[in-house]
Amino acid sequence: MKIAIINGPNLKFIGQRETNIYGKHSLKDLRKYILANIHNVKDLELDIYQSNSEGKLIDYIEEFWINKGNGIVINAGAYTHTSIALADCLKWINIPYIEVHLSNVYARESFRHKSFIAKNAVGVICGFGIDSYVLGVEALIKKIKVRGG
Ligand code: DQA
Repeated sequence: MKIAIINGPNLKFIGQRETNIYGKHSLKDLRKYILANIHNVKDLELDIYQSNSEGKLIDYIEEFWINKGNGIVINAGAYTHTSIALADCLKWINIPYIEVHLSNVYARESFRHKSFIAKNAVGVICGFGIDSYVLGVEALIKKIKVRGG
């Protein structure tokens, strides 16, 4: 099962960026952390990607679709709240995706309450720090198994 963990702008330096909001885990820890917390899943292929560029994120998602990826966990960072282009891309590829955030965006500024990508997501998970990704992967695996993807 091929799952992409996609990270948008300003997520390269989590672990150092505003650690009171985003926690102390780095992006480099992410693979190890997810694999240590997901059990009993065979053939889990995790591809972790980060870009600060909207276009590069879309290029990556298109490639993932070409390569027949099974599911996406995406923390689109601030593009969550602004990017119709990213939302359009995630819609048409028709690969199940889960929107995640480290912080509880609903407890923050009102501009973070709007998500262009939530509508077509399987679901949204936020506020659990790095565990948002683990929960996202678990939920996605369940969804893919039900869907038979
Ligand atoms: C974030 C929340 C966004 O509002 C913010 O722009 C980010 C990180 C999160 O993981 O909590 O860059 O997606």
